[in-house]
Amino acid sequence: MGALQADFPGAINVVMLGPPGAGKGTQAERLARTRALPKISTGDILREAVQTGTEVGRLAKQTMEAGNLVGDDLMIAIVEDRLNRPDARCGFVLDGFPRTVVQAMALDRMVAGRGPLVVLDVVVPEDVLVRRLATRRICGKCGANAAPEWKAKCGKCGGALITRVDDGIEIVRERLKVYLRQTKPLVEYYAGRPTFSRIDGNRPPDLVTADVDAALDAAKEAAGRGVAL
Ligand code: AP5
Ligand code: MG
Repeated sequence: MGALQADFPGAINVVMLGPPGAGKGTQAERLARTRALPKISTGDILREAVQTGTEVGRLAKQTMEAGNLVGDDLMIAIVEDRLNRPDARCGFVLDGFPRTVVQAMALDRMVAGRGPLVVLDVVVPEDVLVRRLATRRICGKCGANAAPEWKAKCGKCGGALITRVDDGIEIVRERLKVYLRQTKPLVEYYAGRPTFSRIDGNRPPDLVTADVDAALDAAKEAAGRGVAL
């Protein structure tokens, strides 16, 4: 982008890219914890809106349940509002946004002058994605992905474990198609930037996290040396 960290010194802005089931949410949560950054997951924001029955939830429900993408204008407005909150000034981890070239262009405008945008593309073969989503359980109360050792209840809040409404096999196939058509072009959109990294997500979570950390440290170090990112 060529933007240095002028207005927001030290800010690290992260985008987790990747298909459904790649582990974006899992890695975003770890990154948010270790780097003390807010995790901004558009899927979580929308699911919460559906659960609480807000206007946004009403608009998004059917689209999400069909595995399609919610409209760009609404998503851009949600993210812009969130990024303008004080806790995002020192950086953020975006999970699930952007998902279209229109959203990516809007994000570039939002972060201009706010430090580098580190884009991590988590790559996992399709058969592994399908398997992961077919077996995933989430907490019906707080939305956390269930850890393997949790049997019927959430280890964080005690809520009942359920299947995510869009994890049925037909909807997963639709989500993968939508990803290929609308989101994968973002890899090309970002690939030429020095802060873009491809991460092999088909390994145990700790190994994926090690690569995510290394990519972030490299970007931070380059920014510290004044390299235009
Ligand atoms: P969203 O919630 O973002 O869903 P998604 O992109 O389809 O991705 P998932 O959350 O299913 O997977 P993930 O990559 O986060 O993987 P996770 O870490 O959970 O979006 C849902 C819907 O909201 C969209 O379909 C759309 O309708 C709407 N939406 C959201 N954002 C939008 C936007 N910007 N524009 C328009 N519409 C939008 O891991 C998956 C499973 O694998 C878990 O069980 C986990 O424990 C396991 N796992 C994770 N890592 C590993 C590993 N390394 N090895 C083995 N298992 C692993
Ligand atoms: Mg997720």
